[in-house]
Parts: sequence; structure tokens; C-alpha cells
Amino acid sequence: MLFDSETLNFKAYAYKDCNHPVELVDESIQLVKSETGEGYTVPPNKILVKLHYASLNPVDIKMYRMAFAITSLINSKKGIGRDYCGEVVAAGSNTPVKVGDFISGLYFPLHAKGTVAQYLMLDTKKPDENVFTTVAKNLTLAESASWPLVLGTAIYMLDGLELPYKKVLVLGGATSVGRYVVQLLRVGASKEIVCTCSPRSENLLKEFGATSTIDYHTPNLANSVLESVKLSGEFDYIIDCTGGSHLFGNISSILRKGGTYNTVVGDCPGYSVMNLVCTFVKSMTRVIASKVGLIPYSYNFMLINSGFKFADQAKKYLQNEDVKVNVDHVFKFEEFKEALNKLESGNASGKIVIQIKED
Ligand SMILES: NC(=O)c1ccc[n+]([C@@H]2O[C@H](COP(=O)([O-])OP(=O)(O)OC[C@H]3O[C@@H](n4cnc5c(N)ncnc54)[C@H](OP(=O)(O)O)[C@@H]3O)[C@@H](O)[C@H]2O)c1
Repeated sequence: MLFDSETLNFKAYAYKDCNHPVELVDESIQLVKSETGEGYTVPPNKILVKLHYASLNPVDIKMYRMAFAITSLINSKKGIGRDYCGEVVAAGSNTPVKVGDFISGLYFPLHAKGTVAQYLMLDTKKPDENVFTTVAKNLTLAESASWPLVLGTAIYMLDGLELPYKKVLVLGGATSVGRYVVQLLRVGASKEIVCTCSPRSENLLKEFGATSTIDYHTPNLANSVLESVKLSGEFDYIIDCTGGSHLFGNISSILRKGGTYNTVVGDCPGYSVMNLVCTFVKSMTRVIASKVGLIPYSYNFMLINSGFKFADQAKKYLQNEDVKVNVDHVFKFEEFKEALNKLESGNASGKIVIQIKED
């Protein structure tokens, strides 16, 4: 597709820094003259995507809270959203897609443009910026925008772990990441999958493969986990999708010697800068203690990164229906603030998706 003008203008949700609200702003992308000279298109190695759907993640709020005033010197229009699904409307030479393909993916650059926007330009020469794939045939476009970060994270958290016959505790089984972790543990033939969740999510997690659940509102979570240990022994792995430090006081009775504790949140869950600093300090201390052998299990604080190429594996899981996607609600582009409020409430049951273009 060729464009009439060198500048493609569009709308996007963005913010200057944490002291300013997220607002609808005017954005633009610079195009180049096409080879035939008849119009404008993208340069070699670049892909222009007309976005149909985006989904929100807690990290979007964390990045917003961490956008101190000084960061507006780098970019005064920081886009929000990392997950997307859309149609390729221009593809430069040397790109793995063609015009008309629908792709979904995860756009990594922080404090850059976001995916709650009408267009996104990808640079395939910078593989550290992108993970994407053509959409899975059995998913709607809204569902296709919902999975990249959370399914990618679930695959990452279990990567390299022997799953068959293991006993696994999933903290936050009903988080969007946790729902995929539970399903992947079932696919991997783990023997016992114990999840923390609210009563409202118990049945769903059992359908996904949980063998038992523990209500995380219980006054003493460690005692409830120890009940499971009494019944069938210590856990081989703890996969923590929600954060917190409730179990560390009893960890030697809960997690077997040589077991693994993988977390994507760390000790201090929450969106405030204090929480993020606390998590960083405490979790890094545990990581170091684990590396030098001061604690009898492997502790890993995991941050998904673009070096971990999960898209093909994820698409296979989705197309084989090994895993199901979970969308809480699809908000319209104009309802962005309601979508953000729902995410921030922390009680979305599945993903918050934003429809950018009518189907
Ligand atoms: N490090 C990384 O690379 C990475 C990547 C992705 C996500 N994350 C982090 O992982 C966390 C989860 O993200 P998400 O998008 O999957 O979450 P989400 O979908 O927003 O999770 C919401 C659900 O969490 C459950 N929940 C809330 N408080 C809980 C608690 N104390 N214990 C257990 N479950 C609780 C609730 O389910 P019920 O009440 O129904 O049980 C709620 O519906 C976030 O902190 C996110 O930033 C990190």
C-alpha cells in the first residue's frame, strides 16, 4: 500500500511523564518515496502495522509510574501498551511478512511509542525490539492481541524445567501469566499443580489443570501451603506470578532442597516506586544468595526480554489448543481510561483488550 504523503499522522495514547495523565495525542511516522516514485512507503527492513487491537499489562502502569520528569527530555510522548494485533499495510524489502498479513506481537522499546495507537512501525533490523508472528488461525483478532507478553512470560518461567511428575505451586494461578503457567504444566504432565487464587477462579483453574487451589485471602498462606506439604510432600518448583514474601519464613519446609523458585514479580508487588525499589533490592539479594549457594534452592527473578524468542512456540500451543486465551473485556479506543482503571484495580479476570479499529 502506498501513502499520499511523506508523513503519516495518527492518534495514540501517550504521556509526558508520571506527573501528567495518559492522553490521546497526535503522532506521526515518517515514510520514504516508493521505488516507483508514485507514493510513499516504509524503508527497507521496516514494517508498518495498522493496529486493530492492543492489550494492557501491569508493566504499562509500572513504566508510567517510573517515568520521572527527566525522562520527558528523551521523549515527551511516551506511548502506552506493548501487546498488539494488526494488519501489515506496508513492508520494506528483507522483511518476513507481506502486505495483508495479520500479525500479533510484543513491542519492547520502553519510553518509546506504544501499541494503543492507530499505527506502529517495526524495525526488523533490530530484533531486540520485537517478537511477532502471523496470527493463529483459531483466534479472533482481539484474542490475538491478548497473549504475547503473558504467554511468552509463562513459557519463559518454565523454560528449562523438567515438568513430568513434578509437584508445583503456582502463586497467582488466576493472573493472566498464571493461567498459561497452569495450562503449560498440565501439557508438561506435572503430577500436582497447586494454585493460589480467589474462590471465583477455582473452577476455571481446575479446568486448566490445577489439582487443588488455596484461597490467597487466608490469614496465613504459609500454613495452608504446609497442609499440602503434609499431604503429598514438598514442592519441586514454586512459580510465582503475583509476588510477595509470605512463604520465605517456612521455605525450607515447603520447597525441596535443590528445587526452583521462579518469580516475575519479586517480594514487593504493587505499582508504587517504593514497591519497585523494594522488589529490586530484596529480589536481587535472594538472586545473589542463590548464586553463591547461601540458600538451598535456585531463586530466579525473571524479566522477559526480546532475546527469548517465544512467538513460534506460543503460536503452536495456541493453534493446537494446548492453551486457551482469557479476555476479561474488550474496551473501545475511546474507553481507554476505563480500561486503564480496570487494569489498575488488579481484579481483571483475564486480559484487558482495547479495540482500535472496527472489524
Ligand atoms: N517480569 C516479567 O517479565 C513479567 C511479565 C509479565 C507480567 N509480570 C508481572 O506479573 C504480574 C501478573 O501480571 P498479569 O498481567 O498476569 O496479572 P493480572 O492478569 O492483572 O492478574 C489479575 C489477577 O491476579 C489475581 N491476584 C490478585 N492478587 C493476588 C494475590 N495476592 N495472590 C494471588 N493472586 C492474586 C486475581 O485473581 P483471583 O482473585 O481471581 O485469583 C486477579 O484477577 C504483574 O505484577 C506483572 O507486572 C512480569
